[in-house]
Amino acid sequence: MVTDHAPIDTPPRAPSPVHGFGTLAVHVGSDHDPKTGAVIAPISLSTTFAQSAVGQPVGAYEYARSSNPNRDNFEQCIAALEKAKHALAFSSGSASTAIILQSLAAGSHVISVSDVYGGTHRYFTQVASAHGVKVTFTPSIENDIQQLATPETKLIWIETPSNPTLSLVDIRAVADIAHRSGILVVVDNTFLSPYIQNPLDHGADIVTHSVTKYINGHSDVIMGVCAFNSDPLYERLKFLQNAIGAVPSPFDCWLAHRGVKTLHLRVREASKNALMVAQALEESVHVISVNYPGSASHRHRKVALKQHRDGLGGGMLSFRIKGGKAAAEQFCQATQIFTLAESLGGVESLVEVPASMTHMGIPKDQREAAGVYDDLVRLSCGVEEGTDLVKDVRQALEKVVVSLKVTNGVANGNGHA
Ligand SMILES: Cc1ncc(COP(=O)(O)O)c(C=O)c1O
Repeated sequence: MVTDHAPIDTPPRAPSPVHGFGTLAVHVGSDHDPKTGAVIAPISLSTTFAQSAVGQPVGAYEYARSSNPNRDNFEQCIAALEKAKHALAFSSGSASTAIILQSLAAGSHVISVSDVYGGTHRYFTQVASAHGVKVTFTPSIENDIQQLATPETKLIWIETPSNPTLSLVDIRAVADIAHRSGILVVVDNTFLSPYIQNPLDHGADIVTHSVTKYINGHSDVIMGVCAFNSDPLYERLKFLQNAIGAVPSPFDCWLAHRGVKTLHLRVREASKNALMVAQALEESVHVISVNYPGSASHRHRKVALKQHRDGLGGGMLSFRIKGGKAAAEQFCQATQIFTLAESLGGVESLVEVPASMTHMGIPKDQREAAGVYDDLVRLSCGVEEGTDLVKDVRQALEKVVVSLKVTNGVANGNGHA
């Protein structure tokens, strides 16, 4: 690898938390109001804060774009859950991605896994390139970094599990190689949430989330957050948070903070449900293949056992259905509990066809090279009863098979409509 960067000196980690995940989720950033004793923080809507003399604010705040009590509370909680020193919240997961990319100088080079969220792919190829940052995609990042890195490479972008094929990347293996050349490693941890995976523990330098998904968990907030340990990174990203101004509202911060307090309960339940659904799909004759990192059969199961809490697979899975694009689309309309909709990570189960929806913007050849075929269906398992979800998936598969037989019958002139 040709690089001239100094190796990264990993800054000291924040002290290990005394309390477990659930306790931290409920209590960090949730101090009682010192004035009223309110157990739940009020929503602080003020955009500006009084000063007792010029340049001397009465309290810790001046102007709400720079900081706000509800955002601070939320950021503290996420820092604790990701075992990070710092966290910064943004107006969306995409804004978090954008700010991280904006922190790079023009002329920088990024190496990314191919199988990223469609919006991340769009940002990398259509926005980052406009400010002089070039991104190279690879389907096998653990093997390719050394060949792909140049002296300009500043960042590695990993999504693990990836969206929507649920491929896993060994974060430590990538970080070890990247750090030797002073390259930072970013992990998008949206699919698992900090309950299942803490990428900084495996050598990542920045972890980023679409809070819109598991962290908020109730499909009613668009928001993002990133967390990290380095003080210089904090200075740079905090500056951009304020300068670019892609900040979340106090109400959204308050809602997301409320949501994250039950993250551990929701994600445990969603993982249990997803495993049940994955097993039912694996047994079905109507299914070509199933991608679920919680299954013993998953191609990267060893990585899951190494990186995920208790080897949990999370609430997301995808599968290829027999019958092509038409079958995939019909399946989504045949489910009764899974709602046909984009997004994921909420308490309610959702279903979609990535090739025609979330990943439509990626050219077909690139999509298929990453395993995103037209017959791939993505499921986000919620916290309903697992047995109901299994029944729903089974009845939808049956309906699709019957409907395709009928259609083929007509098309083939067999006449049994
Ligand atoms: C893995 C992943 N990262 C980032 C994003 C972007 O997040 P947002 O929609 O909050 O901008 C998404 C959205 O679906 C996602 O799935």
